[in-house]
Amino acid sequence: MNQDYDLHLEEAKGKIEESSDLEALKKVEVELLGKQSLTAQAKGSLGELEPEERRELGLVLNETRTKLEEMLEARKNKLDSEIRGEQLENERLDLTEFDQGHRLGHRHVVTQTWERLEDLFIGMGYTVSEGPEIEDEWHNFGALNFPLGHPARDMYDTLYVEYGDPMSTLLRTHTSPVQIRVMEEEDPPIYSIMPGRVFRSDTADSTHMPVFHQIEALVVDKGITFGDLAGTIETFTSAYFGKDFESRLRPSYFPFTEPSAEFDIRHSGGKWLELGGCGMVHPEVLKAGGLDPEEWQGFAFGFGLDRLALMRHEIDDLRELFRNDYRFLAQF
Ligand code: PHE
Repeated sequence: MNQDYDLHLEEAKGKIEESSDLEALKKVEVELLGKQSLTAQAKGSLGELEPEERRELGLVLNETRTKLEEMLEARKNKLDSEIRGEQLENERLDLTEFDQGHRLGHRHVVTQTWERLEDLFIGMGYTVSEGPEIEDEWHNFGALNFPLGHPARDMYDTLYVEYGDPMSTLLRTHTSPVQIRVMEEEDPPIYSIMPGRVFRSDTADSTHMPVFHQIEALVVDKGITFGDLAGTIETFTSAYFGKDFESRLRPSYFPFTEPSAEFDIRHSGGKWLELGGCGMVHPEVLKAGGLDPEEWQGFAFGFGLDRLALMRHEIDDLRELFRNDYRFLAQF
């Protein structure tokens, strides 16, 4: 009798192993454990047996069914993991596709400009300083020789922050307040650049953005002249732009420099683009920074970083820089 069931198990094992998917396995399970199965039938007829035989066969049947269940379970697990493996294989992403030259990420063109200029000035012996984007009225205007109510304050469409007294706190409209912060913290001689983000309530167009970037420079030393200023600007713009660019200085006005000039640049005979302002540091500004104007002189300039990038790469619309279109940014 035992041998019959051994044989049954042997056959069942073959059928289970041959089931190549879960559906086939389910059928085999019904055949081996369902109502019509050999063991179920035999159980049904146990009542006809003598008690001794009944117990013996009962044990054999239970054992057999347990083994059948185990074999079915093992096969089911195996099929399950095969299916999962296949799914994983199908859903796998081929990441090597992205590892091709220009598809590697890189810094934004404005960041590249920022870092390139920092390198250039560090090479000329300058340090790099930073100041806060939310400024007080004193650093952004007062210390820069814009008295309260001075009409020159209207040169900037200032965004004020609701903090403290009305109009006492603002988003800095230029990087020039960092000049004051540097003078407050460091003793001359000062050779420093101050790149940063600035804000004006401007409508975006091809040459303006309400949020943009400037790079400020401040030099304070003995015997500094306008010639040093012009030479420094010439040196860094030709190092940054190369030979095809021309530049010009135009007389201008800023309360914090005297004399003042504006700096324009153009590419091989094209349209002039204003890059920024410059001038000799006004004596009142040196005083506001805690320095004696009889002893120290200096120059300063502040240029639009974004416009520098625009000119260098011959991009004709500033807004393109900030649309975050990968196809555009990937070119630089
Ligand atoms: N801060 C001025 C501006 O944003 C530029 C400037 C900087 C002019 C330094 C002179 C000296 O317009």
